Amino acid sequence: MTDKRFHLAWFMNFTPDEWRAPFGQGGYPWDGQFYVEMAQTLERACFDYIMIEDKLMVPETFGGDRKFSLANGMMAPKHDPAPLAAAMGMATRNLGVVATMSTMAYPPFMLARLSSTIDSLTRGRFGWNVVTSAEDLAAQNFGMDVLPPREQRYAMADEYMDVVGQLFDSWDADAVVLDRENGVYADSTKVRAINFEGEYFKVRGPLNTVPSPQKRPVYVQAGASPRGRDFAAKHADSIISVANGIAGMKEFRDDIRARAEKIGRNPDEIKVLFCITPTLGETEEDAKAKYRRVTTSDHFVNDVLASISAITEIDFSQYDLDKPLPEKLVTNGESGTLDKFQQWGSGKTLRELAAAEGGGLVSSMELIGTPAQVAEKMGEAMAEVGGDGFLITTPVLRVSRHYLVEIADGLVPELQKRGLVRTEYRHQLLRDNLQEF
Ligand SMILES: Cc1cc2nc3c(=O)[nH]c(=O)nc-3n(C[C@H](O)[C@H](O)[C@H](O)COP(=O)(O)O)c2cc1C
Repeated sequence: MTDKRFHLAWFMNFTPDEWRAPFGQGGYPWDGQFYVEMAQTLERACFDYIMIEDKLMVPETFGGDRKFSLANGMMAPKHDPAPLAAAMGMATRNLGVVATMSTMAYPPFMLARLSSTIDSLTRGRFGWNVVTSAEDLAAQNFGMDVLPPREQRYAMADEYMDVVGQLFDSWDADAVVLDRENGVYADSTKVRAINFEGEYFKVRGPLNTVPSPQKRPVYVQAGASPRGRDFAAKHADSIISVANGIAGMKEFRDDIRARAEKIGRNPDEIKVLFCITPTLGETEEDAKAKYRRVTTSDHFVNDVLASISAITEIDFSQYDLDKPLPEKLVTNGESGTLDKFQQWGSGKTLRELAAAEGGGLVSSMELIGTPAQVAEKMGEAMAEVGGDGFLITTPVLRVSRHYLVEIADGLVPELQKRGLVRTEYRHQLLRDNLQEF
């Protein structure tokens, strides 16, 4: 019998929860406990990993200033994902924890050291979401006036991966000998400088951490442009994507696999997960009503527009909500998400675009119904796409315990019943769990 199982991961960030809604926890999750419990819930449901999105600025594109973002707790405040990943990892035993860190922001040595440390703290369950950053506002926090163009960001990121890879290799696996009799903690002949000198980085090495259980973190990536897809196909263990319908998902996954094969990589090593936001109800009508209620509220529409404004640096408050966009828009930021959002030529009004698929921030699949109905659809979609799984989230990353329980205790058991997802963890390392099927 063929294994039809696929992987599940969760996508969130260290920002206020669904703080305004009746089932929110109040918008003050800064001691991390809310998110630690989230990780424990997802581990109960045998998710492969939880991923913490991150940005390095307070958005001020929507409406031209910081007011909307701060008044609504929308993409700000946003706390650092790395310590949260460590806290979530230390409060769980099997779940992978993935933090987003930008190649624009961290010196490679610091990133390698931090990743290695968290991988040891979590006993081999750390992942790094490799991003190049996509906003001028972020670049301005790191000594630049504008974001470098996409090509250059990826060229730097390629070199960056080379540096951190060499740093992770700067200690042999058996360098730590712990020989008490002869007084040798680590064998100095097995720890080397890397003396890296490239176009962008110069790093001496060696790393000053011991080899962590996975040696290097699991690499997660979300490149969408042709250059981004090449980068992801070369480096990623897992790729996350928003795609256009089942055909778009299949096209994306096939394309990534072809790119990987072309450079001599086994495409089965790469798990491509598609971002979805199921709406679940006790009945189909119940779920549909909930979906309508949420996606047509003014809060939702504005949150989506503020969010897409922040990641494209285009101010969507300037356009009429009840008319189509006047022109096809372009960005040096997250272009794939923009293209999916604007559905150029569809004739939809801006309000309709915001309501559709969480404003283009998730894969277009209508997943609205009872847990059994949604599980069935997810299974059918994966069978057509060819594998590897889904990244579950909420449209603008607002989340409540209520929604988590619907997924963990409603949807996942239905998926498990159909033999579609794991029912137990077999491995200690995140990488091994990802490679299991
Ligand atoms: C599901 C998903 C999650 C992402 N998470 C982040 C993130 O946390 N931080 C970030 O700066 N960019 C994030 N991105 C943006 C990607 O890293 C990338 O810049 C984007 O997909 C555009 O690809 P491109 O640069 O090849 O055009 C995410 C994209 C997707 C689809």
